[in-house]
Amino acid sequence: MSEEIFRPVSYSRTTISELMIPAYANFGGKIHGGLLLSLMDKVAYACASKHCSGYCVTVNIEGVEFLQPVEVGEMVTMFASVNYVGNTSILVGIRVIAENFHTGVVKHTNTSYFTMVHKGDDNKPKKVPALVLESREDARRFLEAIKRKELRKTYQHELDNAKTSLEVDTEINKLTKERCKIDFK
Ligand SMILES: CC(C)(COP(=O)(O)OP(=O)(O)OC[C@H]1O[C@@H](n2cnc3c(N)ncnc32)[C@H](O)[C@@H]1OP(=O)(O)O)[C@@H](O)C(=O)NCCC(=O)NCCS
Repeated sequence: MSEEIFRPVSYSRTTISELMIPAYANFGGKIHGGLLLSLMDKVAYACASKHCSGYCVTVNIEGVEFLQPVEVGEMVTMFASVNYVGNTSILVGIRVIAENFHTGVVKHTNTSYFTMVHKGDDNKPKKVPALVLESREDARRFLEAIKRKELRKTYQHELDNAKTSLEVDTEINKLTKERCKIDFK
């Protein structure tokens, strides 16, 4: 049996910064959410790929809530680190901040979690190195990821149940309190 490979969190910690130019703005003059998502995907890939020394795909994204808009002219910085590893998956946590050089204000825009799966040359999921937790913070993030995974399972189970047990005819009266009207054809 091959020996387990371990890599410390610090080995793959990755930071990217990018200046928000006018071409990145939406019709309202703020930075496109899609641009930020694309940058997050890049930093998640770089971090996961470094951890496993190979190719990874994005399988799940959690916690994409933009708490504050990002403005043109701000410098966006994304701090990514491996929070958790499973067998073939790597959970990358990304903290995003935006800095306004004129006012000196630094705002936290979101913290998101990207699950990346390592794939081998055969395009099948491949085992990733285990993680060395170098601080209490690393351990807290790892434990939090386990909790989040458990909660997701419960949530998914309840969501599936809710979908299969949904009876439109019995529940339709709930719609009277909502901002819609029934106009079946
Ligand atoms: C990701 C992918 C390889 C998973 O394939 P699969 O047949 O479900 O493989 P497995 O069941 O062995 O799962 C592999 C790992 O992914 C994890 N995983 C699968 N679906 C997941 C989901 N929805 N959320 C989080 N993790 C997930 C599994 O838990 C497993 O992790 P582990 O090995 O650490 O326990 C496959 O779905 C895929 O290739 N998807 C396309 C990815 C892609 O192209 N992304 C680009 C974005 S467009």
